[in-house]
Amino acid sequence: MTAPASQFETVSQENRVFPPPAAFARQAHIKSLEQYREMYARSIADPEKFWADVAGELHWIQKWHTVLNSKNAPFYKWFEGGVTNLCYNCLDRHLHGATRNKAAIIFEGEQGDQRVLTYADLHREVCLFANVLKSLGVKKGDIVMLYMAMVPELAIAVLACARIGAPHSVIFGGFSSESIKDRVNDCQAKFVITSDAGYRRGKVLPLKHTVDEGIAECPSIQKVLVVAREPQKQLHPVTMKEGRDVWYHEAVVGQSRHCEAARQDAEDLLFILYTSGSTGKPKGIMHTTGGYMTFAYLTAKYIFDLKPEDVYWCTADIGWVTGHSYILYGPLQNAATVVMFEGVPNWPENDRFWQIVEKYGVTVFYTAPTAIRACMKWGDVWPQKHDLSSLRLLGSVGEPINPEAWMWYHNVIGGGRCPIVDTWWQTETGGIMITPLPGAIATKPGSATVPFFGIEPAVLSDDGQDVRAGILAIKKPWPGMMRGIWGDPGRFKTTYFAKWSGKYYFPGDGARKDDDGNYWILGRVDDVVNVSAHRIGTAELESVYVEHPSVAESAVVGIPHELKGQALISFVTVKQGKEAGPDLIRELNDLVAKKIGKFALPEKIIFSADLPKTRSGKIMRRLLRDIAEGRALGNVTTLADPSVIEALKEKYSTTES
Ligand code: WTA
Repeated sequence: MTAPASQFETVSQENRVFPPPAAFARQAHIKSLEQYREMYARSIADPEKFWADVAGELHWIQKWHTVLNSKNAPFYKWFEGGVTNLCYNCLDRHLHGATRNKAAIIFEGEQGDQRVLTYADLHREVCLFANVLKSLGVKKGDIVMLYMAMVPELAIAVLACARIGAPHSVIFGGFSSESIKDRVNDCQAKFVITSDAGYRRGKVLPLKHTVDEGIAECPSIQKVLVVAREPQKQLHPVTMKEGRDVWYHEAVVGQSRHCEAARQDAEDLLFILYTSGSTGKPKGIMHTTGGYMTFAYLTAKYIFDLKPEDVYWCTADIGWVTGHSYILYGPLQNAATVVMFEGVPNWPENDRFWQIVEKYGVTVFYTAPTAIRACMKWGDVWPQKHDLSSLRLLGSVGEPINPEAWMWYHNVIGGGRCPIVDTWWQTETGGIMITPLPGAIATKPGSATVPFFGIEPAVLSDDGQDVRAGILAIKKPWPGMMRGIWGDPGRFKTTYFAKWSGKYYFPGDGARKDDDGNYWILGRVDDVVNVSAHRIGTAELESVYVEHPSVAESAVVGIPHELKGQALISFVTVKQGKEAGPDLIRELNDLVAKKIGKFALPEKIIFSADLPKTRSGKIMRRLLRDIAEGRALGNVTTLADPSVIEALKEKYSTTES
């Protein structure tokens, strides 16, 4: 296992350093390198004391008796004996004094519609929603699937689930009906919440229709709750199934505005979020209540340096973990004002992001490198149309940021005055793990810099030796870590804890550590590809292709892509006598769109008579990547039939995207 070479070469040349601006540092929660070092040292020397102090800043119905229980590692438990409620910590805790009428969510719809919910409003809406869920029969412990538009009701529904102790599992609105089916059947959800429709690039997405198709073969589903995107008008025709489907705006009539927050044990399941791994089957990552809550709270507070006057905007979708931790649970626990946006950066025009920053006076802005690179390509004229002087801090997440995009973000968006926090983390880690603290850590374009409090990373070789460039490891448990994979404890252990004989957490990323102790994340070392900051397992596509009657075999690889970070290239061999042409490409693309979603379509499909294999029959993906990247080929002596390679190279260069 080695780190991808191309990433390594670009960032290993980078030596620019940007100290935190003095004016920023003066007002920051963490004001200096010394303060970071002192707190970090404490957090590592006595993590239990450190995290207990943090948890103590939040509301607990009953205090824990054990901060960390490692007896059954890697099935760690945090804050055992503690009883709390995360929704209470996001809302009820802020209902006294000035925050009561402070904006909690400022929503901007794709069509330009807007809504503001204060903390009191949000609390009321969440209580009403929670009572509707109860009236449908949702009980503590019942899993609720959500497939909704990025509208306030999605935030409200998620918080309502947390309030009554029903674990939520949000599915990003770009996934297909088949993906919904697989997820519902995997976790045996009884309830689905959806929207009739949503907007995407001016078009209407038929969300309820997709749910109907998805759950047609899901016997576990009892009720479907449907939120109207615009109750006054029907955006898309909806068929309501008698006895199963309920309109939210009808069910809410007469509900009480009060709903007590359920008593949640610290280790009660809070949510399941499905993500891609190295096999064809997505994993249901499980997060529990007390540890996740504490970690989301502290990371949001220090990394985004949240203050009462901030207007914070994270452009992610709530269907991904970034939306869970840094649109909802982290910022709301910090009583922040959160901007929530339904649309995309380039609709109706390329300046939509900057228009929103100006309109609401956004101070902290958090997005993905893929969006930054796209904006950079569209040109400086778009941000220059707007007053971006409200911005004071910028963030990046989801994939490595190349130094060129970092510099553009810094100069053109941040006006040279805003620190950039390049935050490395994963669905599995629950919250940010490696990142600069903006008032304390000097940044370097392309480096996620240093570990957050309580996090002990290392760069290791396959056999566990410290090396300068190798595989990232996390040596100690942390409160926000995943607690398992739904229904598959064995896979949890083998995927994340088998690599270094069960000692350390293996995240699946390559990394380099420089002389100043800064970490540079180099991309995945497994068969997971980050396309536009969306995780896709190459095995997921491969298993879709082989379902097609013409396909014999396939291998999918990720290659660097100027805008998307990485792109997928699919190599496909067809069965004897089958036609490999444009029709088959169309059919295969349709199949991927149907089984996974359009966002997983590859850049190119290459048909070939054979794939390069070792004598034992293993496909040599490394060689496929070399071909796709136009690199000199590595060692080919182990190939069973070296002539395959020449034919493939020829084929690759003549196939259009
Ligand atoms: C990648 C998203 C480099 C990484 C929060 C990780 C990053 C995967 C960064 C997790 C970053 C995330 N620099 N790479 N700042 N942030 N990644 O689960 O490969 O959707 O393993 O979580 O994204 O993706 P996930």
